[in-house]
Amino acid sequence: MNSSSLQPGAAGQPAARPLGVLAALPQELGDLIATMQAESGVVTRTLGRRDYHLGTVHGVPCVVTLARVGKVAAAATVSALIHVFDVQAVVFTGVAGGVGPDVHVGDVVVGETLLQHDMNAEPLFPRHEIPLLARSRFNADDALADALAAACERFVAQEGAALAERFSAALPRFKTALPRVHRGLVISGDQFVASAAAVDALRAALPGALAVEMEGAAIAQVCYEYDLPCAVVRTISDTADEHASTSFSSFLTDIAGTYSTGILRHFLASYTPAGR
Ligand code: ADE
Repeated sequence: MNSSSLQPGAAGQPAARPLGVLAALPQELGDLIATMQAESGVVTRTLGRRDYHLGTVHGVPCVVTLARVGKVAAAATVSALIHVFDVQAVVFTGVAGGVGPDVHVGDVVVGETLLQHDMNAEPLFPRHEIPLLARSRFNADDALADALAAACERFVAQEGAALAERFSAALPRFKTALPRVHRGLVISGDQFVASAAAVDALRAALPGALAVEMEGAAIAQVCYEYDLPCAVVRTISDTADEHASTSFSSFLTDIAGTYSTGILRHFLASYTPAGR
């Protein structure tokens, strides 16, 4: 228990533990901190060179922060969310490279399972297995993933056609049809994947992988170890090939925030915090 969870709630009840919401980069959080500022005001604590913003969004107590990039950064940040801020669950939002053959720029992927594609302690342990944990795949929380996927579907139904029209001209790799919502395997590693050969190798090693990014599976591992629900949602900014860095940069600057803002707005509007 810590100071952030000791604020009294309504009728003197202990306040619900906050939801941890994080992204790697500021563009991937959308307008979340501004929304929180307008709704409840924001209290910011700085720890380990990161700012943790506390407040409510749609009445949901949240701690919002930026993990920065990579698995170590993500694991360190989620550890602070657990130990210092006593979060009840963690949601990660951001962009990813599309790996699945049917996953296009502008689509959204909700992780059901997460895996570290660059973990390899062979021959001591099977490829991808986390040594001494006896597993390579970490599941997102079913209820959180369902709620995130439903939020994505509502967002795409309301804004997808306009987004496709707005962005397909500016970003040639953006699919012109309505963006789709996929669910399945998200893979993470400390590499920005940017070649057809590299993405083919990932497909061959991990058939079924839908998206590649740099943080999700690290968060899922720490949450597994602490028995904390987590979920990951990723908008596809590129297809991890030779065009990845230009596609990623334009998507991040022009589009990523619109997705995160809309998806989180729908998600938080229907989120019911679990009891303590
Ligand atoms: N995040 C967005 N695009 C990515 C890529 N191609 N590789 C790794 N992480 C990413």
